[in-house]
Amino acid sequence: MNRSICAFAMLICAAGCLSNVSAQDKLNANLVNKNLDDAVKQIKVLAKQSTEGMLPKTYDKGKNFDSETGWWTSGFYPGTLLYLYEHSGDTELLELAKQKLKLLEKEKLNTTTHDLGFMLYCSFGNAMRITGDTAAYREILLTGAESLATRYSPVTKAIRSWDFDNFPVIIDNMMNLEFLNSASRLSGDRRFYDISVTHANTTMKNHYRKDYSCYHVVDYNPKTGGIVKKKTNQGAFDESAWARGQAWGLYGYTMMYRDTKNKKYLSFAKKIAKYMLEHPNMPDDLIAYWDFDAPNLPEDSKYAKYRHYRDVSTASLTASALLEMSTMVKGKLSNYYLKTAETILYNLSTAKYTAEYGTNGGYLLKHSVGSIPHNSEVDVPLTYADYYYVEALLRYKDLIK
Ligand code: GLY
Repeated sequence: MNRSICAFAMLICAAGCLSNVSAQDKLNANLVNKNLDDAVKQIKVLAKQSTEGMLPKTYDKGKNFDSETGWWTSGFYPGTLLYLYEHSGDTELLELAKQKLKLLEKEKLNTTTHDLGFMLYCSFGNAMRITGDTAAYREILLTGAESLATRYSPVTKAIRSWDFDNFPVIIDNMMNLEFLNSASRLSGDRRFYDISVTHANTTMKNHYRKDYSCYHVVDYNPKTGGIVKKKTNQGAFDESAWARGQAWGLYGYTMMYRDTKNKKYLSFAKKIAKYMLEHPNMPDDLIAYWDFDAPNLPEDSKYAKYRHYRDVSTASLTASALLEMSTMVKGKLSNYYLKTAETILYNLSTAKYTAEYGTNGGYLLKHSVGSIPHNSEVDVPLTYADYYYVEALLRYKDLIK
C-alpha cells in the first residue's frame, strides 16, 4: 500500500533511471495521467452499479457481483477510490470511500481470517495516509492488527491462513505483513513487527523451491510445526507455479525490504522477479498466464482449455512491485525493472485489457482469473487487479516527476 518511495533509493537511482524514463516513448506522464483521469470516470460507473451495503468484487456476463465486508477483497474498492481521490482531489471519491469504510469498520474484530491486511490496510491505511486523520483511523487499524496477530502461532512460526486443514499458510499471506509492520510503527508495539518478520522468514524457508517459484499452500502440524503437505488450492497442480502466488511473494518480499531494510528480502525478491520475468511461458506482452505451468498442461488435463487464459491481476501486482524494486537497486537492474513495469502498464492500458468507458461493470481492467480449479471468476474484471493497477500508475507518476 505504501507507495511513497524512500528518499535514499530515489538518490541511488536518480541519475540512472530518470534519464531513461524520459527516453522511453510508450508509457509517459501524459498517458499515465490520462489513464488515471479515465479511471476516475470509470469508477463512478462502478459506484452507481454497486449494491448499497456491499463491496464491489467482480462483473460477469452483464451482472455486477458484490461481497459482504467479511470477504477478503472488501478493502480494495475503497482503497482504489482513495488512490483516485489522491490523484484527482475529487471529493466525491473520498465521500464514496468513507461510505464503504463505515461498513468495513466492524471487520477490525474479525479473527477468522488472515486477510485483514487486504481488508483494512488497503482501505483504512490509505485513508489515514491520504487524509492525515490519525485520530479517525488509528484505533481501527490497531484493533484490526490485534485480530490478525491472534492467528500467529509460535509453534509454526507463522500466521494461520484458513480455518480448515491442519494449519495452512498460503503465500498470499505475505501481503498482510505490511499491515502488521505499520501497526508496529503506529503503536510502538514491536510484537506486530516480530510476528511479521518471523512469518516472512518461515515462508521463505518452506514455501519456496530451488528455482524460486513457490507453492501456494504449506500445511503445518500445529502441535509440532512440522510440514504436513505442500500443495495448491488455486494453481494448476501442486508442483505448479500459480501466477498470482508468485506475484504476492514478489510484492511481499519487496515490501519487507522497504519496512525492515534487511537486504536478504531484496535479494529474495530479485530472485523471484528473475523466475517470473525469464520464465519461458511468460507471454511477450508480460501479462502472465494464470499459472506459469498452464501452457504446458497435457490434452487430458481438466484445465487444458484454460491453458492460455491471462491473469491481469498478476500483471498489475507485478508492475507495482517492480516499480518499487527499481528504486531499491542501481544502474542497469533498476532500469530493467522500470522498463519492464512500463511495458506491463502500457500493455494493460491498451484496449485489449482496459475497458471502454461505461462497460465492464465499471471496472477498469478485463481478463483476470480468480480461481480456475473452483471455476470461479474466470476471465473477468477483479477489484484487486484495478487496485494494484492504479497503485502502479501512481507509483510511476511519482517516479517520473
Ligand atoms: N488471496 C486470494 C487470491 O489471491 O485469490
